[in-house]
Amino acid sequence: MNSEKINELVSQMTITEKLGQLTQLAPFFLGMDPTMDLTGPMNEMNLKPEWIKEVGSTLNGFGARELKALQDRHMANSRLGIPLLFMADIVHGYKTGFPIPLAMGSSFEPALYERACEISAKEGAASGIHLTFAPMTDLVRDPRWGRVMESTGEDAYLNSVMTQAAVRGYQGQNPRDKGRLASCVKHFAAYGAPWGGRDYNTVDQSEGMLREYYLPAYKAAVDAGVAMVMTSFNTVKRVPASANKWLMRDVLREEWGFEGPVISDYAAVDETITHGIAADSAEAARKCLEAGTDIEMMSSHYLVNGEALVSEGKLDIAIIDEAVRRVLELKNALGLFENPYKDADEAWEAELLNHPEHKRAAYEIAIECPVLLKNEGVLPLNNLKPEDKLKIGVAGPFTGTDRVMGSWAVNRESGDRSLIQALRNQMPQAEFITAMTGELGPLQADITDVPDEIDAAVERLRDCDVIIAAVGENSEDTGESASKTILRLSGNQERMIHALHGLGKPVVAVLFCGRPMEIGPILADCDAVLQGWFLGDASGAALADLLIGKANPSGRLTMSIPVSVGQIPVHYNAFRTGRPYRGLHERYVSRYLDCDNEPLFPFGYGLSYSEFAYSDFMVEKTGNSDGVLAKARISVTNISNVPGKETVQLYIHDVAAQVVRPVKELKGFRKLELQPGETAVVSFEITKEMLSYWNEEREFCFEPGAFDIMLGRSSADVESTRIWIG
Ligand code: GLC
Repeated sequence: MNSEKINELVSQMTITEKLGQLTQLAPFFLGMDPTMDLTGPMNEMNLKPEWIKEVGSTLNGFGARELKALQDRHMANSRLGIPLLFMADIVHGYKTGFPIPLAMGSSFEPALYERACEISAKEGAASGIHLTFAPMTDLVRDPRWGRVMESTGEDAYLNSVMTQAAVRGYQGQNPRDKGRLASCVKHFAAYGAPWGGRDYNTVDQSEGMLREYYLPAYKAAVDAGVAMVMTSFNTVKRVPASANKWLMRDVLREEWGFEGPVISDYAAVDETITHGIAADSAEAARKCLEAGTDIEMMSSHYLVNGEALVSEGKLDIAIIDEAVRRVLELKNALGLFENPYKDADEAWEAELLNHPEHKRAAYEIAIECPVLLKNEGVLPLNNLKPEDKLKIGVAGPFTGTDRVMGSWAVNRESGDRSLIQALRNQMPQAEFITAMTGELGPLQADITDVPDEIDAAVERLRDCDVIIAAVGENSEDTGESASKTILRLSGNQERMIHALHGLGKPVVAVLFCGRPMEIGPILADCDAVLQGWFLGDASGAALADLLIGKANPSGRLTMSIPVSVGQIPVHYNAFRTGRPYRGLHERYVSRYLDCDNEPLFPFGYGLSYSEFAYSDFMVEKTGNSDGVLAKARISVTNISNVPGKETVQLYIHDVAAQVVRPVKELKGFRKLELQPGETAVVSFEITKEMLSYWNEEREFCFEPGAFDIMLGRSSADVESTRIWIG
């Protein structure tokens, strides 16, 4: 259908039909049992029964058969034959569960994230979904916020690269193609910066911080052709995003040229009343439509008030028509007018779900995500002693559980994901003894700890050669509405590690979590620590192979791990301040009396079973040939006898500018595999864009001056050269 046809269709629609297209409801409103629980509060909807058949889209209904039947019922009642658009939260996997995005970001491999999204799209499309509410690309600096698990971390550049990979993975060349989904980037904007790390709380960032940190990754999604944008619950410059004209009309549409529809987050239009910028339902509808929120998710202010607002001259019908046109154009772009089912196909769905290639991909992606934080001669396990002589203790609530899918996982069915099962599969000749394996119930259910079986655990594991502590947080205590003020392991988990350390045997902590945790209290009692995240279907297999040494850890942190929750926000790309702390015992500098400024583990950090040496660091100016101002390069050699992967990172620092600049900013990275003895020369072009910043005249600019150019293995371990670029 071409645009003229769309315009003709709009001209034939009644006001109620138009407002229905701008409303999204959960499937049970349309007579379908929801296959997922609601993802937000259920408020009074004031819906008239005759409106239901006009609704334009649903969220989180699944299943080829079920959605085809729903579409059939809808089309039979649609006067103008406008199909429903089926949307869903497919964030890190559909039937195949992939690692949480914070883990996939730690792989520093965009291609892996893209592959995970491509497989998720295929499975979701076969099950009748047309669009996914992903990627979430909110920049995060505060692990008290439960939704850090959905982000790829604290860096705008890395998040932008990962976001574009995700959009490519979901949409491919064209989301209309078979096995592809339209992608919806969220949550626009800066949802990841709530005061106190408390979900839904106030966000208040200067325009400079928005422009340089919080907005770039959404723009990257728009530049990658993302089909839709979702507004966030929070305020931006004191106006809730769903009613924020500056954000949507000025930035998203005028500056960035986005032409697709914007959808509110769950009941966010309704919440403009609660926020206090709409006095009532009618004002909420008017303000959000005028600001540019095209679709109202799970509230009904548009339907309830739209007709009166127009007839009373309070709202220009042209605003409603442009919103309807965007929605119809998205449906048209997906081919739904020709084929309202798109790819829904029961046979294909059955073939795809649990497909061995997808399971293999889940493993290949999961194996790249864990971050080895500490290893003092204990890992890999296959170096300790011959397998048939090895006695391994495994203790803690994540020993035997397969609930390792992470928040927002669609597939929560049981499977063979447990660590102990995978270890036994991979080391059949070793002896395994388990202890204190009771699961950690969620704080959401007021369960704060695992049962104290520490004494029994000490007795049972006394004769082991090595002890693995499988510890962490319940995945239901991560994700949405899962903010915490305490980031330590529960008391009995910490006490268990201390007691097992007292046996004088090596202790390896494996952390199952959706956020950086405050692990300082257990660090000294662990000989090794592996940040294991929630890795999805391949969790057990990937962690077992990494612990045993059948694979070599290669993840690098994309979010700093704090020494103390009191340091938060603690992130690598901070400003120097006028009184930087240099680690000396001095007063009147920016420091704490009771804690260091630096995180426990910094952005970009991660160990390997290999050892890499850096040499021949060099930076040279190149004039200004097509925007390239300099080149930096360094040699990396694997000086160990273990093949491994290293991620070389490029950082820059602008020494003096119109506004203060971060002490360093990631501007490039390269993950490379090196065989023992192999050397690679890694080079980066330094471009004008990399050196530009948002100035006082409210534009991105490049200023000649002195710049520190840095290359290294983490944000805290770089070689640096200062050059004048002008
Ligand atoms: C939730 C989330 C959002 C999700 C939406 C639909 O409240 O904030 O990420 O896509 O509702 O489930």
